[in-house]
Order: sequence, then structure tokens, then C-alpha cells
Amino acid sequence: MQIMAFVGSPRKGSNVDCLIDRAIEGLCSRGDAAVEKIYLYESDIKSCIGCLACTAFKGSQDCPLKDDMAGILARMMQADGFIFGTPNYVHSMSAGLVNLFCRMQPLIKMNIIRDSTGAIIDAHATTAINGKRALIVVSQGDFSYTQSALIFRALDSNMRDFQLKKVAEVFSAGNLERAAVKDKETDMQAAYAAGVKLAGI
Ligand SMILES: Cc1cc2nc3c(=O)[nH]c(=O)nc-3n(C[C@H](O)[C@H](O)[C@H](O)COP(=O)(O)O)c2cc1C
Repeated sequence: MQIMAFVGSPRKGSNVDCLIDRAIEGLCSRGDAAVEKIYLYESDIKSCIGCLACTAFKGSQDCPLKDDMAGILARMMQADGFIFGTPNYVHSMSAGLVNLFCRMQPLIKMNIIRDSTGAIIDAHATTAINGKRALIVVSQGDFSYTQSALIFRALDSNMRDFQLKKVAEVFSAGNLERAAVKDKETDMQAAYAAGVKLAGI
């Protein structure tokens, strides 16, 4: 099983990273898994410039940005599943994870239906990662779940758009301090159990 884990926190070794590591332990407890961990803030992933070149409207050309993303997309198509982790930043996902989803748009292929005048009357999307498994990890500073409600809604919508199968989500609150989650055995165990689910065995 090949899994790509995206760490959407700029704090390496901190809460999101710790939860992802524990999920990977759970995953690996069920058999061989090759995990590629990608620190979004250390990777060369330029900000989406919104040119829409990758969309059917502009003929689905390649993304004009030259960076790590082409390789990441190619490996995503080979992978069996993904872990997407983010801290709560102002009630939203981190900019790094938002940008990853923006730059993943080339994976979506739109079949556009036009009428006899050429006007778009319908569109059907398929994605190059259709049906792959996904695990979501969110850490926040506050203690109230509602702080991250928008994040979970946005993540769920993106899972749907990319036609991924969300197998579990991990949520941990009260983690303002660096790596505070390490002392929260319940949350760490939940991350482990989510990793086991990702293995799907
Ligand atoms: C710029 C910024 C904005 C934040 N906004 C929120 C917020 O709106 N709600 C919240 O509960 N925590 C917020 N936090 C706290 C982080 O979500 C929390 O510390 C998280 O555990 C960080 O994960 P990390 O240690 O993996 O980076 C914010 C932190 C930063 C740096």
C-alpha cells in the first residue's frame, strides 16, 4: 500500500505532524505500507495563479507553474491513499493545504456538455484519484469543536470533489503549544485507530 501524507503545518514535529505519525503507526501495524510524507511548507509548491489553464474551459493544458507539484500529482495517481493534515488557522485550513487542493485541480477532468450554439449546459467531473482512501487530521488551539466546523465542511467538500473516500477523521483540541498533543493519549490513540482504518484491512 502506498500512502502520501501531507503535513499542512509549518511547525515540523508539532501537533499535526505528531498525529500524522501516530496514524502512520496504525497504518503500518496492519502490514507493509510505503509512506511518503510531504511537508507542504518545505516543498516547492507555488501558489495557484488562477489562470484556469488546467481546466476544461481552457482545454486542460498543463499547469504553467514549474515546481514540485507535477511530480506530486504523478505520485498521487499511483498512490492508494492519502493523509491530509492541517492546523486550524483563523477557523480555516492552513494556506499550505488550501494551496495543495488548488494545485490538485489538474486531477479533475471535466466532460463539458454544450448545446448546438456552443453554450455550456452541463458538466460531469471525473478525477484521476477517484475512489482512493483519505484520512483527515485537524489540530486546533481552542477547546471548542465549533472552531473547526468550517474546516471539516471544506475538507468534506474537497473529498467529494476529488472523489476520495474519507475513511476517518482525527480531531484534537487545546493544542496551542508545540507538540502538546503528545500528552493526550486519547487523541493519539484515535489517530492510531484512524491509521488502522486507512489500511482498510
Ligand atoms: C495564525 C494562527 C491562527 C490560529 N487560529 C486558530 C483558530 O482560529 N482557532 C483555534 O482553535 N486555534 C487557532 N490557532 C492555533 C492552532 O490551530 C494550534 O496551535 C494547532 O494545534 C497548531 O498545529 P501545529 O502545532 O501542528 O502547527 C491558530 C494558530 C495560528 C498560528
